[in-house]
Amino acid sequence: MRKILITSTVISVILILFTGCTREKTHYVIGVSQCSEDIWREKQNAELRMGAYLQEEDVDLHFAAAYDSDERQIEQIDSLVESGIDLLIVAPNQVATISPAIDRAFDKGIPVIVFERKTNSQKYTAFISADNYEMGRVMGEYIASQLHGQGRVMEIMGLKGSSPAIERHKGFADAMKAHPGIEIVATLQGDWTEESAYEATKQWLDSLQSSSSTTKPINYVFGQNDRMAMGARRAFLTENSELRTERYDNSQGTQGNHTSQFSTLSSQLPRFCGIDGLPGEDGGIRLVRDSILDASYIYPTHGDKLIELAVDILKGKDYQKETHLMSALVTHDNARVLLLQNEEIMRQSDYLDQLHHRADNYLDQLGTQRTIIWLAAAFILLLLVVFVLFYKYHLSKIRLQHERVVNTLWNMETPQHTHPQPLPISEGSEYSQDKKEADELSTPLTYREGQGGGSEESASVPVFITRFKEAVEARLDDSDVSVEDLAADMNLSRVQLYRKVKAVTGSSPVELLRTARLNRGYQLLLTTDLSISEVAYQVGFTAPSYFTKCFKEEYGLLPGDIRER
Ligand code: FRU
Repeated sequence: MRKILITSTVISVILILFTGCTREKTHYVIGVSQCSEDIWREKQNAELRMGAYLQEEDVDLHFAAAYDSDERQIEQIDSLVESGIDLLIVAPNQVATISPAIDRAFDKGIPVIVFERKTNSQKYTAFISADNYEMGRVMGEYIASQLHGQGRVMEIMGLKGSSPAIERHKGFADAMKAHPGIEIVATLQGDWTEESAYEATKQWLDSLQSSSSTTKPINYVFGQNDRMAMGARRAFLTENSELRTERYDNSQGTQGNHTSQFSTLSSQLPRFCGIDGLPGEDGGIRLVRDSILDASYIYPTHGDKLIELAVDILKGKDYQKETHLMSALVTHDNARVLLLQNEEIMRQSDYLDQLHHRADNYLDQLGTQRTIIWLAAAFILLLLVVFVLFYKYHLSKIRLQHERVVNTLWNMETPQHTHPQPLPISEGSEYSQDKKEADELSTPLTYREGQGGGSEESASVPVFITRFKEAVEARLDDSDVSVEDLAADMNLSRVQLYRKVKAVTGSSPVELLRTARLNRGYQLLLTTDLSISEVAYQVGFTAPSYFTKCFKEEYGLLPGDIRER
């Protein structure tokens, strides 16, 4: 028993240690507040997710996209902070408007990483971005070199008040200053979306169309991102096709002649440049390769770097407060190579993604297995508890039995009253006769035994039982003793003895004799060094094996068990 207990305890402890010994990962919640939602941000969010996945720590990302609305971004930042994030990554929609929300987060002790777009507040932990001024400048230089210092260009700016728009414009304008032969014909306002650039360009073209002055063609359009460059291009194309229709109508003699002046501007499409240089089907690199755009500039997303920086900050490691990401111009010469390189990177990241999914599956399986092991351990523990309780109950039962057997040979109380305890009687049962006998016993039999009338009735049953016990105890080691012998010892007939004993105790003389033998055997096992066989013979059993069998039936234990305790 002890062995079983020890083994199961050891198994449970090993199981618990085994399942519990994996290192607890630190869990970080990082809020990502994106000012808008587009293919550039989608790429970055995917990198952020991958970067988070590759961290040793458990990094949970909570994304919010403000769709170019200051109010929405402020609300989103506040609610991210409320939700209990450990760090905030934010691309502020505009320089000034979002600052109060960022300041609130920072003042609450939440580290803030501002990325890609700046704020006018100093309340941030780190800033990470490519150099937008440099991009504008390089693009200006590129256009100037393509035009050999002579020509007409227009610029379409990104969202008013956003730092990349301000800086790209400044860089572009500075580059142009060095080329007085290049005229900046227009600087239109967009908001980073293709539609905004289309509308602004279309309006500008329409306004030219309605003026009667002769206009020279535009050579280059610099959209501050690729989407706006494409929007402007669409506007020019639309204008051109409208023009062709009008020219056709003119040739039919239905219109005036101002379109012939305008044709010098729009019949020849300008070349378009943008910024972002994204890979993929709709990205700027492909547009440059296919000569839809003339040039672009890679605006790095680097979500993985952002996460690394965030985790370094959270872990209290050293980090750089300002990080400038490297970037490069995309032209027709390098677009093909860049695309090929990017395809390779995409292939690798697909593999990584697959590995990621596989690892997730393994982790899921591991989780399930761990749950099963926990359940099994809990079940074993439960069994153990039930087992211990049962064992304790068993022990206490045995202790009671022990006390009883040690103190008396008999499992019955000596009756203290005249009338025997009522026996369970059912009509026609074997006990009905016994009941009658018991009733008789309380009066006539006592007379017959000459033990007095009325006043002595109360003594008759105990006296009878005492005499019976004495008779049995005297014959306990006699294996041949019969009920007749006992009856004879008590001066009764066999039938008289049987009926009286049965009526008073509910058991037959033979049963009582057998119990008394077993009880005496129990006592001898406890108090002597006699072997089991010797005990069996001493209490009147002719075969030790039969003694063992009866003993087991009576006490639920083997004689050997008594010896062990
Ligand atoms: C993406 C984007 C880019 C642009 C950048 C400026 O949301 O509009 O196209 O280069 O933001 O912040």
